[in-house]
Amino acid sequence: MDKLLIAGGVPLAGEIAISGAKNAALPLLCAALLTREPVTFTNVPHLNDIGTMLRLLAQMGVKVSREKSEVPAGTQSAGAGDTVVLDASGLDNAVAPYEMVKTMRASILVLGPLVARAGEARVSLPGGCAIGARPVDQHIKGLTAMGAEVAVEQGYVHAKATRLKGARLFTDMVTVTGTENLMMAACLAQGETVIENAAREPEVVDLANCLVAMGARISGAGGDVIRIQGVEALHGATHRIMPDRIETGTYLCAAAATGGDVRLTGTSSAYLDAVIDKLMDCGCEVLSERDAIRLKAPPRLTATSIRTAPYPAFPTDMQAQFMAINAVADGTAVIRETIFENRFMHAVELIRLGADIRIDGNTAFVKGVPKLDGATVMATDLRASASLVIAGLVAQGETLIERIYHLDRGYEALENKLAALGARVRRVK
Ligand code: UD1
Repeated sequence: MDKLLIAGGVPLAGEIAISGAKNAALPLLCAALLTREPVTFTNVPHLNDIGTMLRLLAQMGVKVSREKSEVPAGTQSAGAGDTVVLDASGLDNAVAPYEMVKTMRASILVLGPLVARAGEARVSLPGGCAIGARPVDQHIKGLTAMGAEVAVEQGYVHAKATRLKGARLFTDMVTVTGTENLMMAACLAQGETVIENAAREPEVVDLANCLVAMGARISGAGGDVIRIQGVEALHGATHRIMPDRIETGTYLCAAAATGGDVRLTGTSSAYLDAVIDKLMDCGCEVLSERDAIRLKAPPRLTATSIRTAPYPAFPTDMQAQFMAINAVADGTAVIRETIFENRFMHAVELIRLGADIRIDGNTAFVKGVPKLDGATVMATDLRASASLVIAGLVAQGETLIERIYHLDRGYEALENKLAALGARVRRVK
C-alpha cells in the first residue's frame, strides 16, 4: 500500500491549477443515465472515485469513453481534467452491486436516475463508513412519495415504478446526495415535484445546470426549495464540471499553515465564503480574482473556532483541515461538528504529531502549540488524510502517512501539486 513521506517546514509558494470537483462529477456522471443520447463532461478529475463510478456505469451497459484533455498554457497542474462521454442508450442492467457500492457511498446516486429511466433499480445499501452511519432513508422516502415501490431486501434497495409521479418532498435533514438523487428522478416524473429543505451546495446547482442543458425544467436550485416540472425525455448535452471547492480550501489551508504564499487557478472564491472568512480571521490575506485565489499567510496563524453546517455555512469537508491549522495557531479553537457523528478520527493522529486536542462529544478543543514533530500516522478517511498532510507539511522532520488510498479517492495528483508549490513530498510504495 502506498504511503506519503513529507519532510515538513517549507512554506508553500507558487501557483497550481485546481481540478474539477469530485462531488459535482459523481452525481453528474449518474445524470447521463437519464437519457438515451450521449452526454459529454469536461474537466473531469483523475480520481479513484471517478474510476469506480465509471466502472459501475459501464457494468450497467453505459458506453464510457474517456479522453485526456490538453493542459492549457500557463498552468502547472498535473492535468487539465478529462473529457468523458457517456452513452446510456444500451442501459441493460439496473443493478449496483455491493462490491462497488461499499467502496464509494456516492454510488447510491444511480438509484434515482435508474428508477426514473428504466423503471427499476437494485442498488446495494452503502452501509456505514468511517465518519458515521450515513443512512439513505431520505432517498427512499422521497422515491416512495413519488410513487415508487421500494423494498429493502438482502442488503439491496429494490425500487420499481412504471413512471414516477411528481410530489411535494420534504427531507428530515439537509442531505446533499439525497437532494441530487430526488432532483434527477423528478426530471422524468409525471407532473411537478417540489423538494423542500433542499441542500443548497454549489454541486447541486452544477447538477441542475447540466440537467437543464439536457432539457429538464428546474427552478430554485441553490435555494432550499427546488421545483422540477417532469418531462417525457431528456437529451444529450455538454457540461464542464465546476472547480473543486474542497480541494481549493485544502490547498489554502496548507499554504496558511506553512506561512506560504500561493495562487490557485481555475477556481473561485464564490464557493468558499465561509472558509475564506475563517482564513482571514486566522490572519491570512486572501485576494479573489475572477478565476483564481491568492493567499498570503502571516508567520503564525491566530486560532479560529468553527462550527460545521450545511452550505453556505462552514463545510464539514473542511473541518479536519481547520483542526490541523488550529493545531499550530496562536490560541485555542473550539471545533463543533454537526453533520457527522464520528468525524474526529484525525484528532488522535494529530496528537501523535504533538497537537494538544481534547474531544468532548461533537466538540474538539484545540490548543495551538508552537511546533509539531514528524511521526508515522494513519489516514482514516478522505478529509482526515488531508489534515494529516497539512500537519506533515508544518511538522519538523519527516511524517509518513499510511493508507493514502483515501487521498487518491479525492485529490488529483496531490504530491505533484504540492511539489509544484515547493513541498518536499514523495509517494513511497
Ligand atoms: C455529501 C458529500 C460529502 C459531504 C456531505 C456533507 C458527495 C458525494 N458527498 O455526502 O463529501 O461530507 O455531503 O456536506 O457529495 N442522512 C440521513 N439520511 C439520509 C441522508 C443523509 O440520516 O437519507 C444524514 C447523514 O448521515 C448526515 C447528514 O444527513 O449526518 C448529511 O448527509 P448528506 O448531506 O446526505 O451527505 P452525503 O450526501 O452522503
